[in-house]
Order: sequence, then C-alpha cells, then structure tokens
Amino acid sequence: MSEFERRNFLIWAAGSAFAFLTVGSSPARAALGALAEQDKGKKPGDPKDPKKGTESKPASKPADNSKSKDKEIAPGDQTDGSYVLDPDNPPKVDIKTKGTPGGNYVKLGNDTVFVAQSTDKKHWYAVSAICSHKACAVSFKNDEIVCPCHGSKFSTTGKVTKGPAKDDLAEFKTEEVKGKAGKKFVKISKK
Ligand code: FES
Repeated sequence: MSEFERRNFLIWAAGSAFAFLTVGSSPARAALGALAEQDKGKKPGDPKDPKKGTESKPASKPADNSKSKDKEIAPGDQTDGSYVLDPDNPPKVDIKTKGTPGGNYVKLGNDTVFVAQSTDKKHWYAVSAICSHKACAVSFKNDEIVCPCHGSKFSTTGKVTKGPAKDDLAEFKTEEVKGKAGKKFVKISKK
C-alpha cells in the first residue's frame, strides 16, 4: 500500500468511526428512549393502541331465548313452576267429577286447577277446580264455571255469581304457547 492509499484508508476509517459514535450517542438514544416511554404509557387494550385495541373486548353473552314466544314448549311441568297443557292430550288427574266437565283438570304444585276455553275459542280460563262450598269438582257450561253438586256458579275469573258457595275460586293465569309443529298449548301459572 502506497503512502497515498494508506492516508485515504485512515481518513475513511476515522470518518466511519465518527459516524458510528454520532448515531450511537445522544440523539439516537433520545429517540429510542422517547419511543420506549410512549409504549410504557399505554395500557393493554387501550383502544388508541392499534396493536392491542381488540384485546379487552368483552365476550358477547349467549342469547337468552327462555322468554321467546316462538320457542317450542313440551307439555307438562315447567322449570318456572308453571304447567303447560296440551288440550288434545290432557293429564290424568285423580278427581271425582259429575257429568261432563267441559274442560281439563291439571295439577299445579299443590293446587288442582280447572282449565276451560270460551265457546268462541278466543280465551282460556283457569280457576281452582275445587268448589268453595263442599269441595266438588267444578265444570264449565255456557261460558260459566258451575258446580254440579249444589248449583253454585262462578264467573270465568272465579267470582261467586250464585250460591250456596260464598267464597270465590282462586284464579290462575293462562297464556297460549306454541308446542310441537305449531300446536297450541296453554300455559297455566299462579297470578
Ligand atoms: S259443592 Fe259446589 S255447590 Fe256445593
């Protein structure tokens, strides 16, 4: 290597060393430090942080269909304490009746309930099946609740309209619900 080449090499080496020291020193370190501080200030899930914006999204709750009127319901006792009656396939309830009941008897907890439909088929009624006079099973005739034993009569909401019974019958809530293949069932529950 000639003297001229040696000098050029030394100048180039000195320049490279200077450049390395300059970049590795304060301005570059300051820039890197600023970036690190910026990242530290951000919390996980901060929506302003494009890297982590989706992490803290709450999981969506499963849909609650328990109140859906379109849900198919099986007849019988329900978990909410109600009873669903299939009028074409009523349950067998141990109760002594006189004549034609004109409705169905179902058990709702400790109660025996009489369920009947209006003659125009637009309404369902449910009252205590046991007459308040001397405990005969009530029936349904001409859109009235009647007692075949001594002739007491009650409105469709259980109010006494004719004695000898003096006390009203307890009324229960009715609601038409959809069963299998769109079949109409009646849900009976306490008021
Ligand atoms: S038992 Fe119903 S009227 Fe007497």
